[in-house]
Amino acid sequence: MTSIREEARGSTFPDMSTTKPTLLLIHGFPQDHTLWDPQLGPFNAVANVLAPDLRGFGNNTDYSELVTMETFAKDLRGLLDHHGIERAVLCGLSMGGYIAMAFLEQWPERVEAVILCNTRSTGDTAEGKEGRRATARDASEKGSAVIARAMIPKVLSAATLRDRPDIVTHVETMMARQRPEGIAAASLGMAQRPDRTAVLKAVKVPVLIITGDADELMPLATSQAMAAAMPGAQLVVLPKAGHLSNVEAPEQFNATVIDFLASLPRA
Ligand code: MLT
Repeated sequence: MTSIREEARGSTFPDMSTTKPTLLLIHGFPQDHTLWDPQLGPFNAVANVLAPDLRGFGNNTDYSELVTMETFAKDLRGLLDHHGIERAVLCGLSMGGYIAMAFLEQWPERVEAVILCNTRSTGDTAEGKEGRRATARDASEKGSAVIARAMIPKVLSAATLRDRPDIVTHVETMMARQRPEGIAAASLGMAQRPDRTAVLKAVKVPVLIITGDADELMPLATSQAMAAAMPGAQLVVLPKAGHLSNVEAPEQFNATVIDFLASLPRA
């Protein structure tokens, strides 16, 4: 049994009769599958899309006190097993990228290609770990809406904050509706993740790195460092996009991913 809830709205998934790749979209923190709303239509045309709610987020109420990146990755492997999918393209944003790297470390043979969006391969500093514990405490004591309000200026670019109230409302609402328990568990889990730069150095499959030039949470140098670890990787920097590049620059994000998928050798 998988503990993951999936959504693939508007999709014909699983359509095993085609040679389309399976694209596994892994949302970030504290989000759910609706992060990928701008992608589902365009991506369903070229891939069999899976966009699950991770443990403790969205419709997935299956959480414990602390959920590591390895546990999230194991849930995703269970989802692939459940559908009889041997290999998938992993596409993770931020925490979703941490999870994709944990998956890649354990089951490289199940990965056809990797798309790492607005993320980093390094672990947290001591100060960062303390911040995770504070976030977990705040989620439990003050509630998710407080976390969402504090994160909005960090995850969206100044241009998005100024010009796109619709995006601000969508993202804040999505974050505020996540359960405090799920937020706390993932926050504590992120604090435990190791540096996985060596995993990237060993990667044998195509890699695409996407970020936004206005991402303050993951400054460009973090994406450049990942690209430097993998000489074959492609790095795409989307102008005026912040931390949620798929939501803030959806047309460019979608075109970049669709081109990458088209470039993959298909059996
Ligand atoms: C995310 O967007 O998933 C988080 O910002 C990741 C993090 O806090 O490290």
